[in-house]
Amino acid sequence: PLPGEMFGTTRRNSSGCDLSDPLVREPLMRRLADLSQRRWTAEPTLGQAAAGEAIRSPTDRSITIGEVRNATVDGLDAAARAADQAQPAWDALGGEARGRLLDRTADLFEDHREEFYSLCVREAGKTLVDAVLEVREAVDFLRYYAGEARRQFTRGTVLPGPTGERNVLKLHGRGVFACISPWNFPLAIFTGPVAAALAAGNATLAKPAEQTPLIGALAVRLMHEAGIPREVVQLVPGDGKVGAALVAHPAIAGVAFTGSTATAKAINRTLAERDGAIVPLIAETGGQNAMIVDSSALPEQVTRDVVASAFQSAGQRCSALRVLFVQEDVADGMTRMIGGAMEALRIGDPADLRTDVGPVIDEEARGSLDAHLAWLDGNARKLIRMTLPEEAAKGSFVPPAMYEIRSLSDLSAENFGPILHVIRFPAGGLDTVVDQVNATGFGLTLGLQSRIDTVRDQVERRARVGNLYVNRNQIGAVVESQPFGGEGLSGTGPKAGGPHYVARFATERVTCIDT
Ligand code: NAD
Ligand code: ALA
Repeated sequence: PLPGEMFGTTRRNSSGCDLSDPLVREPLMRRLADLSQRRWTAEPTLGQAAAGEAIRSPTDRSITIGEVRNATVDGLDAAARAADQAQPAWDALGGEARGRLLDRTADLFEDHREEFYSLCVREAGKTLVDAVLEVREAVDFLRYYAGEARRQFTRGTVLPGPTGERNVLKLHGRGVFACISPWNFPLAIFTGPVAAALAAGNATLAKPAEQTPLIGALAVRLMHEAGIPREVVQLVPGDGKVGAALVAHPAIAGVAFTGSTATAKAINRTLAERDGAIVPLIAETGGQNAMIVDSSALPEQVTRDVVASAFQSAGQRCSALRVLFVQEDVADGMTRMIGGAMEALRIGDPADLRTDVGPVIDEEARGSLDAHLAWLDGNARKLIRMTLPEEAAKGSFVPPAMYEIRSLSDLSAENFGPILHVIRFPAGGLDTVVDQVNATGFGLTLGLQSRIDTVRDQVERRARVGNLYVNRNQIGAVVESQPFGGEGLSGTGPKAGGPHYVARFATERVTCIDT
């Protein structure tokens, strides 16, 4: 049987693309070379657009990939009104028909995956391996939420009641959802909330991050090609000012936001101050993610998992490892092995298959990470800081680095890049470590490397995090298998790719009939 078949789920996760197979890889590399010549555009689906602005590659700022014409704040009104008018018919279509359109979108995403790979590499600076994972995750979200549309939105649930009374609970769309996404998963996290909002019967205004509108534009174009009406799913490119105006618009009945904790709080304030209905916010935000390594852990496995968790995607994953707690009696050996593995990382052009670590997203990100490295130089013990290759001067690169700090309270913010902090802890100090991690207020991912079952149970009971990973890396949550999302400063829940996600975009109505 297929995974999940026993429970009535036969959806297959996307197969992606096997880069280790030369028969797949070589034609793909030729196609990507052709696609690197293409110029892409993004503009609002409906409503007025501003003058065009060039989108440049984070790998080499002299390379222009395309042009974006952002939505204007005035133009938002027409877009939101059109969405509002179209939403009741979309809701009335029902879960089966909406599921079919989302499945068709997933098929089109797979048909166009090479274009997405090209854009993920060139616009977002992702390595090809990450680009493949990104498209897979987007396709998985579409298919999983298509299934949820069918499961939860096709017919009502008959509830118990006395004889002569019929009670039926039905889920409906709330109206128009604003889906605001970050640049670090410019396709997967752009697509996931949009697909969930659509599955639940909402019209959707989708705002990509200002750094990556071209990927969002291709995604929305394919949703339209699949048959989802243009008024029902609209691209709204723009910066934070456009996002803020969107959230404040009276037609917006719900907001799904992924990005920094500070922006989530700003959106929450705007929603609280708006006249009219109380508008729900689904927020998936940042983390101060730790991994705890005790003396029973296997050093080779710790090394592999730490390097992947901290440095894959240049550390630009909300799930990425930031603080490694190592039991002091094994700390020197572990950090020596991790440093050795880091020396083998290849930094450079993400289009080159040999590259492990590409650029960070832009000069602003580079500036703040460089400032943090400078602070660490004066306040922490440097264990390793890699040297950047010459070509890195053309783009926004940050050297992978590992520093030992005294305490978690030394870190005031999430440092969103390839910088790992190490803290030693004494044997018997496990509860204190977990308490320190909890005290940050973030609760996204936590890694644990230990061969002792009672240690695992102890951490599982005490840690207030959304995703705990034991004896493996702590990135790359798989749709349906590892529903993803945190608590506290890391988000409101529900968990993306989990069974409760789509329902949170809906409103519940009960009809009681005296028969
Ligand atoms: P950001 O908060 O700066 O921007 C995110 C989005 O919000 C962008 O589209 C931006 O234009 C928009 N925005 C900015 N100000 C706004 C405002 N006042 N009102 C409405 N919209 C506004 O975040 P970022 O730098 O793009 O993304 C990185 C952050 O995202 C990190 O903190 C990371 O941890 C977090 N993240 C979390 C998850 C998760 O699932 N928990 C996933 C990915 C990224
Ligand atoms: N789903 C992404 C990960 O787990 C955020 O890395």
